[in-house]
Amino acid sequence: MEVYRLIGPASLRGDVDVRGAKNSVLKLMAASLLAVGRTTITNVPAILDVRIMVELLSRLGCTVDYDPEGGVVSIDVPAEVGIQADYELVRAMRASISVLGPLTARMRAAQVALPGGDAIGSRGLDMHQAGLEALGATVHLEHGYFVATAADGLHGTEIALDFPSVGATENLVMAATLARGRTVISNAAKEPEIVDICTMLVEMGADITGIGTGLITVTGVERLSPVTHRTVGDRIVAGTYAFGSALSGGDVTIRGVGLELLPNVAIKLRDSGATVDDLGEIPLSDGTTGRGFRVIGARRPQPIRVATMPFPGFPTDLQPFVIGLNAIADGVGLLSENLFEARWRFVQEVARLGAKVSIDGNHALVTGVEELSGAEVEASDIRAGAGLVLAGLRANGVTEVSGIDHIERGYENFVANLRNLGAPIEQVSRAEGLTFG
Ligand code: UD1
Repeated sequence: MEVYRLIGPASLRGDVDVRGAKNSVLKLMAASLLAVGRTTITNVPAILDVRIMVELLSRLGCTVDYDPEGGVVSIDVPAEVGIQADYELVRAMRASISVLGPLTARMRAAQVALPGGDAIGSRGLDMHQAGLEALGATVHLEHGYFVATAADGLHGTEIALDFPSVGATENLVMAATLARGRTVISNAAKEPEIVDICTMLVEMGADITGIGTGLITVTGVERLSPVTHRTVGDRIVAGTYAFGSALSGGDVTIRGVGLELLPNVAIKLRDSGATVDDLGEIPLSDGTTGRGFRVIGARRPQPIRVATMPFPGFPTDLQPFVIGLNAIADGVGLLSENLFEARWRFVQEVARLGAKVSIDGNHALVTGVEELSGAEVEASDIRAGAGLVLAGLRANGVTEVSGIDHIERGYENFVANLRNLGAPIEQVSRAEGLTFG
């Protein structure tokens, strides 16, 4: 079994480049299905989830060229594409459901496996279904698959989302681009990744207004054309290194993501005693320029109070890092989770490092301790895994994190980047299983 092994305490110092957002690029790839021809996406991170999406699009009949090093995915979409997203792929990556909207719009039919449970609480698809039905599709569940059909094509409508769901907003905007007439989506999600996808759709010829607001209007067009599009930077990966600096008393410059994508996060980092400087437009290692910022952590952080909220609120995906920072802060901190239920498996693991966390419903009360102590821990999802690595930086002695596949789904070169920042971390093989007798 492969694990990450690190020796603490250590602080992060130096520069790190962050490429495109996982949560955007996967949907940009799905959106390519809306146009016949070759769509090229740049600033693509070298992560496992992109490989899964490459496989899914290939199985649908697209010819996909992926250059992980160069960060480019090029997708050649034929006139006729398949309509089925297999359980194997949807189970491996829930974001596979983002082909539902594009396939229903373009092929007038889609069969997408139901994801089932995952490690971060129940995540319904009712708004995806109700929205597609309002757009004129028939949607039912058959043999574990969502089966959507729209024999006469989709038509514009008014959709009021119960909650600003990221996935539902994306699927419904993509579906509406090729519907007849005007669709108005209220209570839409405003995340930077939604803005990125809408921007690419407009470049493809879609008519969308209200991008980045809670009221998105899409007027359907006959057809869309393939484009070349650069993925927005990954604010969650950037936030991970920012918290890494804040909780380790470090000094890290993050390149490729601007603070405008992390408004609430910058405030909370400053509350912890960190200095956060906006560096504006700076050179990136790929020869382009992008925004950047620098985080200098306090010697020992002050505890912070955070409630996760839809954008521009504090992102739920950075929740484990808040708990990690509060775990070694000088006082009592609080994290309230408002987006997902039961995202607490991380808490059980970080407790193995000596963190004092008590859970009450959706609240995690964290009493900071002066020192954590290294231990064997297991990642339950992408962010929990990265959170355990960062907490391990503040733990005395050796921490071994297993379940690293989860981390590799969302972080490119995580070990190499942390090593560049001075962390004594390596990937090692650990003997597996118990032997008796
Ligand atoms: C996306 C991100 C994820 C992030 C989340 C919230 C991707 C691949 N994942 O997930 O990293 O944590 O946004 O910022 O982009 N819900 C329903 N019914 C629905 C849809 C959602 O009840 O039809 C509920 C979910 O159960 C959850 C909440 O709404 O409690 C938020 O879900 P949503 O915003 O849709 O998140 P995802 O798109 O799944």
